[in-house]
Amino acid sequence: MALDHTPMSSHPCCSFLLVCLLLPLSWVSCVLPHQPAALHIPSLVAHTPLPLVRSRFSAQAQLDFTTHCNASCFHRGEQARPEELAEQLAFETLYSNGSRTLTAVDLDEDEEAEWRPEPAVPFLATGRRRGSTGRRRRQKRQIYGADGRFNIRGDHFLLDYPFSTAVRISTGCTGVLVSQRHVLTAAHCVHDGKDYVKGARKLRVGFLIPPSSLVNVTLPSTPSKKPLVRWVRVKRTRVPKGWIQGPLEVSMDYDYALLELRWPHRRPFMRMAVAPSAQDLAGKRIHFSGFDSDRPGELVYRFCPVEDESNDLIYQHCDARPGASGSGVYGRVWDNSLERWERKVIGIFSGHQWLEIDGENRDYNVAVRFTPLKFAQICYWVHGNQVDCSKD
Ligand SMILES: *[C@@H]1O[C@H](CO)[C@@H](O)[C@H](O)[C@H]1NC(C)=O
Ligand SMILES: *[C@@H]1O[C@H](CO)[C@@H](O)[C@H](O)[C@H]1NC(C)=O
Ligand SMILES: *[C@@H]1O[C@H](CO)[C@@H](O)[C@H](O)[C@H]1NC(C)=O
Repeated sequence: MALDHTPMSSHPCCSFLLVCLLLPLSWVSCVLPHQPAALHIPSLVAHTPLPLVRSRFSAQAQLDFTTHCNASCFHRGEQARPEELAEQLAFETLYSNGSRTLTAVDLDEDEEAEWRPEPAVPFLATGRRRGSTGRRRRQKRQIYGADGRFNIRGDHFLLDYPFSTAVRISTGCTGVLVSQRHVLTAAHCVHDGKDYVKGARKLRVGFLIPPSSLVNVTLPSTPSKKPLVRWVRVKRTRVPKGWIQGPLEVSMDYDYALLELRWPHRRPFMRMAVAPSAQDLAGKRIHFSGFDSDRPGELVYRFCPVEDESNDLIYQHCDARPGASGSGVYGRVWDNSLERWERKVIGIFSGHQWLEIDGENRDYNVAVRFTPLKFAQICYWVHGNQVDCSKD
């Protein structure tokens, strides 16, 4: 974290402050967080869906997802060619009757320059990290230091935004409500990269019902105050081609799936946004609530700072156990039109990654980031057109 030795006058933070101090009338704009200009969302052109053979639903859900990555893998997303991106952004649609289709997409290449990301800075090379010997035991951790997770209890919290946007997925994962009818989760909760999991044949989304909101008809006093769950069938599931049959470390970048509910729900949902860089998140922090497998029946909330980011992943040490896979990772981002900080889903909690750069091995919990292209794809899945997706 040491500040670099740039002289004060030329340091961006300080020259900015100086301008603010010298121009008292403009203090308002100095107090307001700086934010990049309204983001341009690229457009995807979807082709006619092609029918595929029915899924066999032969895979077992494997919720504990771990990958390995090195420097070339860390920077891969910045260097991907448009053809590769288009291939990964193609998607499968699975219907509740077991039939499925494949939809190819084209990217608007004229716009390419506009959504090309800034190259990620290799974090170990910058010395931003605390020193590490690189000889640490390779022991996977999902809980870092003292467990920093909170159980969310009580009707108020459970039914209140933002906790109320967390839903259960019948295969053992978590999802987040992102529209009146749509739930985002991790792809590995429904598909193992080769085939859909057994439980995806009758996929359901579970909404928590706190016990006291039920009418007193049965059991006078239930021993457990755990919330009950109302299950709703999923009508349609979408999985990006980037998840399907790619090498594992590539797949992790595409570990998200969108589920469409048979009936609209009536709870508030959380809007999505293109993931800003960590500097543009309030407190550089991310938050998520999920159904961690070591705390059955509990909704578990946690937050932590972003430690690092590549084009496609958010690296962090938020404590999490496998059932939290698919949780909506959100941060407070500055909303230009509302002129306030708003919680927005900017990624999906995926799993664990070993990152080896310059001989140093580090382990992180990671979330998939919504790049402008992934945002455009998911937005297309939600709205069925590009018109509603052209701005963030
Ligand atoms: C990263 O790993 C891949 C295969 O796992 C290897 O081909 C590549 O050379 C490695 N790159 C670096 C910079 O170590
Ligand atoms: C399954 O459902 C989809 C969408 O409703 C429909 O287009 C398709 O024809 C159905 N397939 C079968 C075999 O019923
Ligand atoms: C349930 O029953 C208890 C005791 O009989 C009563 O105090 C409580 O208000 C009832 N709750 C509801 C939601 O009706």
